[in-house]
Parts: sequence; structure tokens; C-alpha cells
Amino acid sequence: MSRYVRVASVTDLPAGGSMAVTVGERRVALFHTERGWFALDDTCPHQGMPLSEGHVEGGCVTCAWHAWTFDLRTGAMTFGDFEGVAAYDVLVRGADVLVAPRPRAAGDGQDLPTARR
Ligand code: FES
Repeated sequence: MSRYVRVASVTDLPAGGSMAVTVGERRVALFHTERGWFALDDTCPHQGMPLSEGHVEGGCVTCAWHAWTFDLRTGAMTFGDFEGVAAYDVLVRGADVLVAPRPRAAGDGQDLPTARR
């Protein structure tokens, strides 16, 4: 198993918030919602804007620029299926928020929550 990367303290990101973090060479959007913690590639596949600045509601993030919307668990678009972003597993251990160093393979965890509290 790959080593997870510590990206934040739980106090860095209150529930309802999102932030960009670095996981190795990747820029990842970290989300803390009432449903738990989630991580997606931060780059919107439409025109490259940061999803960490998007609007989160109902388990999805909507890009702030042109409103493409992605499921926080899987990175799949919530309308159509022509694009998506990579999703990462997130663990919370004590006060540390950890993100997997590589995204899940497409189709992994489609029905499972990405994050654990
Ligand atoms: S850059 Fe995200 S929807 Fe256009």
C-alpha cells in the first residue's frame, strides 16, 4: 500500500470548506463536508480553473467558472459522462488529514464514500 500524504490538520479546514493542497507533484482539491472528507484533482477539465474554489452542495462540487459539476466521491460529472476528474482516498487519523498519493483507478469506489471521519 502506498503511503498516504499528510496535507492538513483537521482544524485547517472547517466543515463546509475546501482548499487546494499538494500531493507529490499534484494539486488536489480537498473538501470537508457534512458527509466527510473528499479529494479530487484541483484542475477543472473544462478550462483548468481550480475546483477548490467551487461551490459544494449535495455531495457535488460545481466549478465557479462555468458550472461543470462533479461528484465528490468519484470525480464523475453529474450530467453527461464525457469528462471527469480523478478522485483520491482521504483518511483522517487523529488531527491529521491524509490523501492517497495516487488517484483511484476509474470505477473504484463508485459506491463507497471516499472519506472516513
Ligand atoms: S473551467 Fe470549470 S466549468 Fe469551465
